[in-house]
Amino acid sequence: MFKTLNDLDFAGRRVILRGDLNVPMRDGRVTDATRLDRLTPTITELADGGARIVVISHFGRPKGKTVPEMSLQPVVAALAKSLDGKAVAFASDCIGGAAEDAIAALPEGGVLLLENLRFHPGEEANDPEFAAALAALGDCYVNDAFSAAHRAHASTEGIAHKLPAAAGRNMEAELKALGAALDDPRRPLAAIVGGAKVSSKLAVLGHLVAKVDRLIIGGGMANTFLYAQGIAVGASLCEQDLADTARDILAQAEAQDCRIVLPEDAVVAAAFEAGAASEIVGLEAVPAEQMILDFGPKSITAIEAQLDDCRTLVWNGPLGAFEVPPFDTATVAVAKTAAALTESGKMTTVAGGGDTVAALVHAGVAERFSYVSTAGGAFLEWLEGRTLPGVAALQQG
Ligand code: 3PG
Ligand code: MG
Repeated sequence: MFKTLNDLDFAGRRVILRGDLNVPMRDGRVTDATRLDRLTPTITELADGGARIVVISHFGRPKGKTVPEMSLQPVVAALAKSLDGKAVAFASDCIGGAAEDAIAALPEGGVLLLENLRFHPGEEANDPEFAAALAALGDCYVNDAFSAAHRAHASTEGIAHKLPAAAGRNMEAELKALGAALDDPRRPLAAIVGGAKVSSKLAVLGHLVAKVDRLIIGGGMANTFLYAQGIAVGASLCEQDLADTARDILAQAEAQDCRIVLPEDAVVAAAFEAGAASEIVGLEAVPAEQMILDFGPKSITAIEAQLDDCRTLVWNGPLGAFEVPPFDTATVAVAKTAAALTESGKMTTVAGGGDTVAALVHAGVAERFSYVSTAGGAFLEWLEGRTLPGVAALQQG
C-alpha cells in the first residue's frame, strides 16, 4: 500500500502536486475538463488544510524543447474554472528562479501551475538532477496523475524518492474503481483500442490479447493492421514499418483464442475537415489519395454483434476521427450501444483516456458507463497487470 493525504502532514507546507493536465485542446481552448475536474478534490483538500499547492504536469510531447503551442498557460483559466473560480497563478518555467519566485509569492491555500515539464529533456529521461530541481521547490510530493503513472519520468518516479510522498484522491479512486471492475471481470471480456498513438499502443496490444476474449481495433491502429494484411489504405494514418508487429499480434491472438475485430468498410475523404466530401467504401476500394477517417455501417453492425454477448467492455481510443463530424458516426453509435447494454445490466463498461472521455461526452453517454477513467495508456498497462512506475514509487517512498 501507499500513503494517502491522510498520512501526509501538509499544513503550511509547499506541496508539489503532479497532476495530468494533458487535456484535449482545440484552438487554444480546453475541450474536455474531466482531468481537471478529477484533480480538484485533492487541490481543495490541500488548500483547505493550509498547504501551498504547486501543480506540475506535462502537456503533449514537445520532446525536451520549448514548444509555445504546448504551453500549459491556456489551461490556467480552465483549472480555475474547475476550482469554482479560485485564483491560479502561473510560472513560465517548472524549475529555477521563475518557479521559486512564484512559489515564494504563494499564500497559504494558494494554487500555482508551473510550465510544461516536458520542455526539459530531464523530465522524460528521469534525470536525477532534474528530479532534484523539482524536489527543491517543495516540502512534500503528491501524485494524483494516475493517467501518467505508466511513465517512469522525473515528475512521476524520480521525485517520489526525494520527498515525503503520497497518492492524491484521484489516484486512490482510480486504482480502487479499476480493481473493483476488472480484477476478476465477467466474461466474455472485450476491449476496444483505437486512437492515434499507434506505435505506443501496439506494444500493449501484444499483451492484451492474452487477457481479453475479443479485441476490436480502431483508429490509426486499424489502418496499420489492414495494411499488414495487404489492404491498400490510401493516404490514411498508418505506420507501415509496424506491419510485422501487427502480423505478430494477429498470430498471438490466434494462439491465445482472442478474436480480433477489424473494420469491414470505411468512410473516406480527401481532407480531415468539417464538411469535407466523404463516402462509404469497401476495403478493396479505398482511393489512393484519400484517408480512412471512420468505420462504415457494416463495421458498426459487426462490432455491435460482437458486443452483444460480452459481459465486460474496456474501451480506450475512439474508432474514427470523432472530433470532426461526420467522422464521429461509428464512435457515437458504438458508445450508445455500450451505454444501453450497461443500463440493461448485461455489461460492465469501463472507458479511459483523454480523447475517449471527450468522445463519450460528445456522444452524451459518459454518465451511462459503469466507470470512466482519466487514464488511457496507463489504464491499458494496468489492465495488462504491469506495475506502473508512478504507483510503485509511491509504495517505496
Ligand atoms: C495521456 O494522455 O495518456 C497521458 O497524459 C500520458 O501522455 P503520454 O502518452 O504523452 O505520455
Ligand atoms: Mg492522451
